[in-house]
This record gives sequence, C-alpha cells and structure tokens, in this order.
Amino acid sequence: MNRHRRTLPLLGAAGAVLLFTTPAASQQQRQPPTPADYRHSIMEGMEQHQGALRSLLTGVVDHPDHVLPHAQAIQALSMMLPEVWPEGSAEGTRAKPEIWANWSDFMSRITALQETTAALVSAAESGNMEATSEAAGNVQRACRSCHGDYRARQQR
Ligand code: HEC
Repeated sequence: MNRHRRTLPLLGAAGAVLLFTTPAASQQQRQPPTPADYRHSIMEGMEQHQGALRSLLTGVVDHPDHVLPHAQAIQALSMMLPEVWPEGSAEGTRAKPEIWANWSDFMSRITALQETTAALVSAAESGNMEATSEAAGNVQRACRSCHGDYRARQQR
C-alpha cells in the first residue's frame, strides 16, 4: 500500500510529460481527466470487449480461448459501475439527472447488469458457444435497458 502511495505521484508526473509532449494528442486529451471521463472509459471498455466477443462468437475470428477473458473483463468493469456516479458529474455528459433522483432504481439496473455479466462468465467457462452467445445477448439487453431510461440522446 505504502509503495503505491509513493509511486503514484511519479506515474502522474510521467503521464503529464507524455501528454504534454505528444504533438498528435487532441486538445481533449491535454485536459486533465474528469470523473465523467473515468466513467466513460469504463463504459467504452465494456463496449469494446463486447465488440470483441461478437467477432469471436460469430466466428469472424477463430480464437475460442479469447472468449473467457473478454467475458471476465466485461464482468470486472460492471463491478466498478456503482462507484462512478459522483454527484455533480452529469454536467456536459449524457447522464440524466434522473440517475440521482431515482438512485435505488438506478442501482438496481447496475445489479441487473452484474447478474447478466456473471452469467456470461459462467457460460464462457462452460465453453458452450451457443449459451455464451445467449448470455452476451442478455448483457446487451441490460445495457440498453438502462441507456433507454438514464442516458440522454445528447450531451447536456
Ligand atoms: C445502470 C445504467 C447503465 C448500464 C447498465 C450501462 N450503461 Fe452505459 N451508460 C449509462 C449512462 C447514464 C451513460 C452516459 C454517461 C455519461 O455521459 O456520463 C452511459 C454511456 C455509455 C457509453 C458512452 C460513453 C462515452 O464515452 O460517452 C457507452 C459506450 C456505454 N454506455 C456502453 C455500455 C455497455 C456496453 C453496457 C453494458 C455492458 C452499459 N453501457 C451498461 C448507463 C448505463
């Protein structure tokens, strides 16, 4: 733990040097990240791993041993979701104020997603591709259901 405390500021300095010396970095990347950026990274991460799973499960690529780690990655990210909605982090994002107004319903949507991601990992562990595809479909429905109610169409 102590070692982490000492090395983190160093990492921060190294990161800052990288950001300020990369000419191709976009303006956005040069800004220090916000709590909403962290939330977006987690959401995008789940999306990317889902895309990878789709390629694997539709047979576009043939790496059956990649299925489980992608499923585990989605599950790990879904476990972080309850902690990425600090008050005041909605401005300029697509997070609707209803999230904080209906907090317990919103948390139940996260729990519902986590149930589907746990089932996805179990299916992937079994090696049954059909069951895994079905479980991946259930995950996607849980994503969409929450987006339908709590994600605005446009940034506010
Ligand atoms: C409990 C609700 C909820 C669940 C479940 C959920 N999301 Fe989201 N998601 C949101 C909200 C709200 C936003 C808008 C956040 C913002 O703009 O700050 C969002 C934003 C996103 C974004 C856009 C991120 C960006 O860069 O702006 C992606 C991609 C995404 N979600 C993918 C997913 C995927 C994939 C899943 C399922 C594996 C999922 N989400 C599950 C609520 C949810």
